[in-house]
Amino acid sequence: MRKIIIAGNWKMNKTLDEVNDFFKGISEWEKDFEHRCQILIFPSNIYIQIALKMLDENNIDIGVQNIYYKDFGAYTGEISPKMILSIGSKYSLVGHSERRNIFHETDEEVNLKVKSLISNGVNVVMCVGETEEEREAGKTEKVLEQQLNYGLKDILPPDMKNIILAYEPVWAIGTGRTATPEIAEQAHKFIRDWISQKFGKNIAAEISILYGGSIKVSNIRDLIAQEDIDGGLIGGASLKLEDFKEIIKISEKNINRQ
Ligand code: PGA
Repeated sequence: MRKIIIAGNWKMNKTLDEVNDFFKGISEWEKDFEHRCQILIFPSNIYIQIALKMLDENNIDIGVQNIYYKDFGAYTGEISPKMILSIGSKYSLVGHSERRNIFHETDEEVNLKVKSLISNGVNVVMCVGETEEEREAGKTEKVLEQQLNYGLKDILPPDMKNIILAYEPVWAIGTGRTATPEIAEQAHKFIRDWISQKFGKNIAAEISILYGGSIKVSNIRDLIAQEDIDGGLIGGASLKLEDFKEIIKISEKNINRQ
C-alpha cells in the first residue's frame, strides 16, 4: 500500500533560533503520534545537520530542497547527492516551480538531477504543475505529460520505488488559492494513469503523489480524502509548528484508505 506523506518545504525561511524551537517542539510532540503518515521536512541546507541531530530519535525524515547533479567539483554554491548522503539525508526535492521559474531550471536539468539522486540511492520528490496561463489555455495535461516525460526519462521501473511525485499547480503556490479537491484529484489521476501506462499498474498503485499549493489547516481534510492524493507538500503552513502538527493530525484521521 502506498505511503501517505506530509512534507514541509521551508524554502528560504527561518533563523537558527526559529529552527531550534521548531525541532524541539516537533520532536517532543511526535513521540505520541500514531504514524500512519510519514513526516518529511526540507529546511534550508545550512540547517540540515542540526535537524538530523535534533531529530535523531524521532521518526521524521529530513531532505534538501535542491541539488546539483555532479558528484564533486568546481561548481561554486552547489551541493551534490553524495554530499547529502554523507551527512545522513536521504531525500531531495527536484523541479520545484520556484527552481524552474526563478532559477530557469529546465526539464533536462530536472532529469539529470533525478538520475543523479537515484544512482546515489537518494529518494526524489519530483514536482510538476502548470501555470495559470497554461490551465486557462486548456494545456494542463499536456504540460504535466511533458514534465513527467522529460523528468523521468531513462528512469527504470525498479527506480520508481525511490520516487515520489508532487503535483503543485503554480497558480496555487503561496497565493492562498488552493486547487479544489476535484481539480487536484483530476490532475493526480491523470498523473497516476500516465505512470501506469509508462511503468505498469503495480508501480502506479504504489507511487505516492502529493498535492502542494496553499495547503492549510482548513483545506487538508478534503484534499487528503481524495483517492489519488497521498499527502501534501506544504510551504507557508509548514513554517508554523501548530499548523503543521494540526495538518498531520487531520491527515492521520482522514486518510481515505485502510
Ligand atoms: P505553499 O507552498 O504551501 O506556501 O503554497 C507549497 C510549495 O511551494 O511547495
